[in-house]
Amino acid sequence: MKEWTPASWRSKPALQQPSYPSPSELEAALAELSRMPPLVSPWEADELRTQLAQAAEGRRFLLEGGDCAERFADCDPTIITDKLRILLQMSLVLVHGASKPVIRVGRFAGQYAKPRTEDFETRDGVTLPSYRGDLVNRPGFTPEDRMPDPQLLLRAHGRAALTLNYIRSLVKGGFADLHHPEYWEMDWIAHSPLAADYRRILQSVSEALSFLENVLGIRAGELQSVDFFTAHEALHLSYEQTQTRQDPRTGAWYDLSAHFPWIGMRTSDPDGAHVEFFRGISNPIALKVGPAMTPETLQRLLDILHPHNQPGRLTLIHRFGVNRIEQCLPPLIGAVRASGKTVLWCSDPMHGNTRLTEQGLKTRRFEDILGELERAFDIHAALGSRLGGVHFELTGENVTECIGGARGLSEQDLHRAYKSEVDPRLNGEQALEMAMLIARKMAALNRK
Ligand code: PEP
Ligand code: CO
Repeated sequence: MKEWTPASWRSKPALQQPSYPSPSELEAALAELSRMPPLVSPWEADELRTQLAQAAEGRRFLLEGGDCAERFADCDPTIITDKLRILLQMSLVLVHGASKPVIRVGRFAGQYAKPRTEDFETRDGVTLPSYRGDLVNRPGFTPEDRMPDPQLLLRAHGRAALTLNYIRSLVKGGFADLHHPEYWEMDWIAHSPLAADYRRILQSVSEALSFLENVLGIRAGELQSVDFFTAHEALHLSYEQTQTRQDPRTGAWYDLSAHFPWIGMRTSDPDGAHVEFFRGISNPIALKVGPAMTPETLQRLLDILHPHNQPGRLTLIHRFGVNRIEQCLPPLIGAVRASGKTVLWCSDPMHGNTRLTEQGLKTRRFEDILGELERAFDIHAALGSRLGGVHFELTGENVTECIGGARGLSEQDLHRAYKSEVDPRLNGEQALEMAMLIARKMAALNRK
């Protein structure tokens, strides 16, 4: 293989990259970004890799969640706090069900770029470039809005930094203190059909904490608060290149725009630019695998992305859809086994279950999402493998984008609060219910 550099991806075909009208303006923005401090540090990425390695061994569980497309307008204290709250609530429920620590990773502070199936969108005879996320252009349907704008790269970096700064200060300031889960209460919990179950879990976690502290005398720092890590699809390679820096301690390169970048399903060609870029960064990385992934291609990807079988390096996020997982997953588990390598397996039950309503709205059914997850747990267990994580599109806000759940949202309810510009998300209540149902599933598997 040729030598890797942060720019060696430029010699390979790069899919899903915007074309900017002014190359010199793009270069100026990229040069400025290259001089700015990155968003995370190599030691945080190393710490996450260690934790992911433990998840691959069954000693931790990964919870990854956030928006499909984070918006610049989501850099708002209430929205950020609600997103943290829902991830904390879900993780507490999962800790309880799985009886193991949960690694919390947000699809936030940088999830601003979206792959699109079509490069152009036509409305009433007018054709314009597709919206590719706030990193690239704007969703309004005018030529100005849809023109890729390099200034947005700078704004994205700033918004990601502000978001992460606020998350870090909330976590450090005690928001995530397990002794005070009442801080995480959200309005809707009081009148949710799930309220009693959720409170019972809180009670039991709080009793377990007092037992550890009072009876066993443990009051370790680790028990009191929790970490958050960030993830996004590292799609826009010239942006990611500007955040790719060398660790002075070791000489290793890291993409410091997030702790845990992933390669999307549409850009996972072993001969493509994204795989070339990811091969040289030392972060823990994830790869989305869908129905088109063959065992042979996966073997090649394991050779390129995971050559040293370093613990925690590679997570495979599978996303097939409830009707395809039984056929698609076993051959890939077989391919990994044949390679002799260890990966962390994670299920994304969202992206294979998208459907259009009669009115043409994108939605997902709660029961399909749950169905794919339950099958994922069972298939791994039956084949002597292990599902070590889950990946959701969700928000703390009370949106109506997915159908079903305890409140029985129907197609007719969707118009009430449908806000997503891209994929439909679970709302806070649906997300918490999902966590309760998988916690129950994990507890049942543990008893087997
Ligand atoms: C996503 O996670 O929003 C996404 C586009 O996923 P995938 O690459 O799996 O389709
Ligand atoms: Co999505």
